[in-house]
Amino acid sequence: LNDGLAVTPLLGWNSWNSFHDDVNETLIKETADLLVSTGLAGVGFDYLIIDDGWASRKRAVSGPIQHNTTRFPSGIATLADYVHGKGLKLGMYTDSGSMTCAKYSGSLGFEKEDAAQLAEWEIDLLKHDNCFSVPEKERSVQARYEDMRDALNATGRPIVFSVCEWGVSSPWLYGREVGHMWRTGKDISIAIEASWDGVMQNLDDTTGLSRFAGPGGWNDADMLAVGKPVGNRLSHTEQRAHFALWALIKSPLIIGADLRALSRETLLLLKSREVVAINQDPLGVAGDRVWKQGPKEVWAAPLKGGARAVILFNRHVASDDNFPATEMTVYWSNIGLPNDAQATVRDLFKERDLGVFTGSFSSVVDNHGVIVLRIATTRPTVGLEAWRP
Ligand code: GLA
Repeated sequence: LNDGLAVTPLLGWNSWNSFHDDVNETLIKETADLLVSTGLAGVGFDYLIIDDGWASRKRAVSGPIQHNTTRFPSGIATLADYVHGKGLKLGMYTDSGSMTCAKYSGSLGFEKEDAAQLAEWEIDLLKHDNCFSVPEKERSVQARYEDMRDALNATGRPIVFSVCEWGVSSPWLYGREVGHMWRTGKDISIAIEASWDGVMQNLDDTTGLSRFAGPGGWNDADMLAVGKPVGNRLSHTEQRAHFALWALIKSPLIIGADLRALSRETLLLLKSREVVAINQDPLGVAGDRVWKQGPKEVWAAPLKGGARAVILFNRHVASDDNFPATEMTVYWSNIGLPNDAQATVRDLFKERDLGVFTGSFSSVVDNHGVIVLRIATTRPTVGLEAWRP
C-alpha cells in the first residue's frame, strides 16, 4: 500500500516461532524490556508482534473480538501503553476465516468490529492469517483481505497490514494492493525441523519475486529462525547466511527467538548494523539471485547512490557435511557495474574495507556460509534493472 507505512521492510519480533500460541502479558512485557535493553530496538527492531493465542476461543454472537482475560489480565490497551512507553510499536494477529490457525476466534464477517477494537487498543500492525476459510463458499482470499484492509483504513489509525496467506494463491500478485507485506511461502517454524533445507525452501519460494517488492509492500519470507533455541538445528554459519539473505531480499526481519535466552553470538548477529542497513536502504529495491553455478550463488541488490550489496553464498547440500570452503568470485558484470571500474569493497559483517578492486572480487566462503559486501564505484553505473533476473 502506498500510504506512507512500511517504506522500508519491518524490523521486529514475533512470538510464534518460540512460543506458538502460549502467549501472555508477562512474556510480552519482558520482551518489550529486552528489545530495549539488548540494544535491538536501537538497531531498529521496534515492532513487537503478538501472534496467535491472544484472543478468546469463541466470540460473542455480536460485537468485536475479545482477548483472553487469563493470559492478558490487564487488557490490551494497557499493554499497548506499556509497549508504546518503551518507544516500541505493538502488532497483533487475526484470521480472515472463522478461526485462527490455532483455533481461536477468527474475524470473518466481523472485520469492521474487530478493526475498530484493535484501533481503539492502539495497535500499530495487524498480521491477518488465512486458516478456516472456504473460499469457494465465502469470499475469495483477496476479497477477504480487502475487507480487512478497508476496515483498518476506516479506523483512521495508521496500521501496518501483514498479509499471511500462503499455499492458496500467489499473494505477491495482489499483496501490494491490500497490504504492506505478504508471505511467499510456508512457515519457517515448520521448516526449521527440516533445518537448513527448510530455510532454503523459504528462500527458493521468494527467489525471482524481487520485482513485486518496493516501498510500501514487501515479500515476507517468514520470521527469522535465528537463535530459536528449541529445535533449531542451524549452525551459526547457517544462521548468518539466513539473516543476510533475508536482509538482501528485503524481507521484513522479524526475530522469532526467545530474547530471554539469546546467546551473545546470536545477539551480535541480529545487531549487525551494516547488514540491517542493506535491508533498510532508502532506495527500497529488493535483491535477488543474479548468478548461480552448482552450489555457488551470487545475490545482489542496488543501494541508494549506485553501490551494490552483494552476497557470495556457498550453498551446498545438507547431506555433504564435508564439503569444503570454496573460492567464489563476483564479477562486476554480474552486478551491473562496468568491467573496468575501480570499486571499493567492504565486508559488512566485519565492518571493514577490503580494498579497491577492478572487474571482480574473490573470497573463500565457508560451506553454507556467506560473505556480505558493499561494492561501490565512483563511476556512473548502468541501469538498476540490468542485473535483475
Ligand atoms: C500460520 C502462520 C504462522 C502463525 C500461525 C499461527 O501457520 O503462517 O506464521 O501465525 O499460523 O497459528
